Parts: sequence; structure tokens; C-alpha cells
Amino acid sequence: MKVINIGMIGTGYVGLTTGACFAHIGHNVVCVDNDEEKIRILLDGKIPFYEPKLDELVKENVKQGRLKFTNKISEAVKASTVLFIAVGTPPKDTGEPDLSYVENVAKEIGEAMDDYKIIVEKSTVPVKTGEWVKETITRYNKRNIPFDVASNPEFLREGNAVGDFLKPDRVVIGVESEKAKGIMLDIYKPINAPILITDIKSAELIKHASNAFLSTKISFINAISIVCELSGASVEKVAEGMGLDKRIGHHFLAAGVGYGGFCFPKDLLAFIRIAEELGYDYRLLKEVERINEEQKERFVKRIEGLLWNLREKQIGVLGLAFKPNTDDMRFAPSIDIIGKLKAAGAKVKAYDPHAMNNAKKIIKDIEYCNDSYEVAKDSDALAIVTEWDEFKTLDLARIKQLLKLPIVVDGRNVFDPFKMKELGFTYRSIGRQ
Ligand code: UDX
Repeated sequence: MKVINIGMIGTGYVGLTTGACFAHIGHNVVCVDNDEEKIRILLDGKIPFYEPKLDELVKENVKQGRLKFTNKISEAVKASTVLFIAVGTPPKDTGEPDLSYVENVAKEIGEAMDDYKIIVEKSTVPVKTGEWVKETITRYNKRNIPFDVASNPEFLREGNAVGDFLKPDRVVIGVESEKAKGIMLDIYKPINAPILITDIKSAELIKHASNAFLSTKISFINAISIVCELSGASVEKVAEGMGLDKRIGHHFLAAGVGYGGFCFPKDLLAFIRIAEELGYDYRLLKEVERINEEQKERFVKRIEGLLWNLREKQIGVLGLAFKPNTDDMRFAPSIDIIGKLKAAGAKVKAYDPHAMNNAKKIIKDIEYCNDSYEVAKDSDALAIVTEWDEFKTLDLARIKQLLKLPIVVDGRNVFDPFKMKELGFTYRSIGRQ
């Protein structure tokens, strides 16, 4: 195996995971971040967010000398042949991604280049960003050092990122030269997965198209769940029956309170804007987004429907993270759901196994509890918003005793409706009777 010297610029979720995994498969990696505090935490052997298996990977590879951290881009540029740009592309008010961080990094790389480099877009960026990256580097590359631009989108799921990196469904590499293609293939040689080589624009589009398609699958099943509720069918059975068709597949057909996280909501909006800019009104995706918003409204309405009024009622919320196995609160459905409950006059108590610290920064004026039972105590209803495993094994008899009214509204279909009925709960879930 050829060891490649890699610079990973941005140690957020994607950059840190990818950097640690590249080191794990044998490459030399320098991770860069301009946030000095973050670098200090990492040098201390700690991870600034929760991701299973990542801390071990970072510790081990730092010990082996394959993974280093710095806050100077120029240091990484000098030490590396391949530079990955993994900085944030947060949404602007218009929904378009803010690409100024990507531009700054491209500029700094251009200024610091001393030898042939490949600059790879890792962040999710609009189609044609590669052209701007190339143009920016050319402008600041005063010594005319040769370089290539490439696109290598990530498909990592939070909570499963290390596994997704080491056993991916596919690796997509968008390149313009044989030289860049050869080096990028060397990087991924230890990974056993289909590798798709494309032009840069197609690679950029594959990322947005994939996320848009997965969001569409979720909104599709959520719309089906409404039809199930109205007709008396069960969305789980419908999804199972659909999923047995290999062309449809079982994944991403779990109905619930909607998708959240830092990818789907922002990437979908960005993709709608990009299409608009290119001259296409992507109405299908606008509807996907509308259905996602509607799921949260319907959930709150359902709680209200069971309690008549929400004013002065106490609602216990279980689960705050946008999905289980992460502490990430960005665009979590819980934020909107709790916001709507509070707007209707309800008091909210909440608990999440890992996301409480992050939640406290975003959701104010609610009572944070130490566990699910404390949430249930004296609540008029219990709302399940994230399907953490520990909720599946709750002592439901105890929960029932603690609740003021035995009402459970399950936004993630965690419990069995028959069992809940047997236990004497008034139980409502998504798309099930
Ligand atoms: C996603 C993509 O899966 C990943 O490929 C991309 O690189 C980044 O965005 P992530 O945001 O970590 O990953 O979460 P994911 O597991 O895809 O779930 C996204 C949201 O959809 C969550 O809020 C989840 O609860 C919801 N979801 C998922 C459903 O509501 N139903 C499903 O069937 C699947």
C-alpha cells in the first residue's frame, strides 16, 4: 500500500472522522482547524462531540504518529500531497450554502503551495463549486505550482460514521486528470468497496441528489403514514411490503416526526436553490420539505387533541437529538416540537441520553431531567421524539404510575400498540392504529 500524506482542513464531524479513518487505514494525516480551543481538546486526546468509536481511533492513531493536529493551514499544505476541504457550508437566510469558508481555505492553500497538490472537496457543495475552487487557487498560486481539483463527497451517517467510512456502499471520486485519479485510488486502496470515477460536477451532484432522494423516501413514507391513519392501515406493514421489492428496499422507510440533522434539511434547501439558480423549479423537493414540516405540526396537534388544551399542561419529552446515537441537536425535530408546545402554553420537561448539553444551548425555559422517569413524573402526557435504545426497555408500568395521565404519543413508533393498550395507556403513534 502507498502511504499518502493527507491534510484535512476542518475538524468538524466530517473532517475529524475522515481524517482519523484515513490515518487508521495507514496514511499520514494532519488535521487543521482555526478554532484553537478545538485543537487543544484534540491534542488532549478528547473528541469535541459524541461519535461512537471515534475517540479510540483518534487516540490510537495519534499514538502511532499517523494523526496530527494544527491550527495552521500552511503547515498542512507543506506536509501533504492531498488536501481535503472539510469546512462548514452553513445555510444563509436564503437557504443557499455559505461558501466563504471554502473560498478562504482555497485561497490559503493557493498561497502556501510549494509542490504539486490535489485539493479535494469533501464538504457538501453545490455543483460547479470545483470550478470556483480551481479559479481561487489559480489566483493566489503566484508561483504557478501545478495542482488538481477533485470532489470526493462523504456519505457518513452520524452515530455510524466510522463504520460507514470503513465499509462504504461506494466511494465517489470526481477528477479531471489521470494523475489525480491514480493518487485518489491509492488513498482508497485499503477500502473494499465499489469506486465510481466521474467528472467533478457529477461527483458534486451525486451527494446532493443522494441526500435529496433519501429525504424524499422519508417524506414519502410519512405521507403514507397519514393515509394509513386515515384508512386504518399500518405504515410498518406497508413499508415492509414495499421494502421487499428490491427496487425499493427497506431502508429509510421508517415513518416518524420527520428528518433533522445538519445534512438533510440544509442540503435539501440548498439543492432547491441550486436548481433554481440553474433555471429549474424543483417542486418535488419543495413538497418533500413541506411534508417534513407538517409531520412536526401534526405531532403537536395530536398531543393537543388528546389533552383538549395545552395551556398549563406538562408535557414530558423523551429524546432531543435529531436521531439516536448522536449528541447533535442541529435541526432536530425536537426544537420545533418543543417550540410549538411552549407557544401553545405547555410546560416541558425533557431528557436525552447524550444531547442534553447541546440541547441546553438551543432550547431554553424547559426543565431538563436526569432520566425518563423524572420526565414522566406528574406529566400530562409523554412524547417520544428520538428512538434511543434505552427508551425501548423502560419500565412502562412505572412510567404509567408516575404520569398524571397515562397518555403516550410516540413519534418514532418505539412501542407495540397492543402492549401499550394492555398496560392501560392511551397510546398514539405514527401511521399505526
Ligand atoms: C445523512 C446521510 O444518511 C449521510 O449519507 C450524509 O452524509 C449525511 O446526512 P445523518 O444526517 O447522520 O446522515 O442521518 P441519517 O441517519 O441519514 O438520518 C437523517 C434523519 O432522517 C434523522 O432525523 C432520522 O431520524 C430521519 N430518518 C431516517 C427517518 O425519519 N426515517 C428513516 O427511515 C430514516
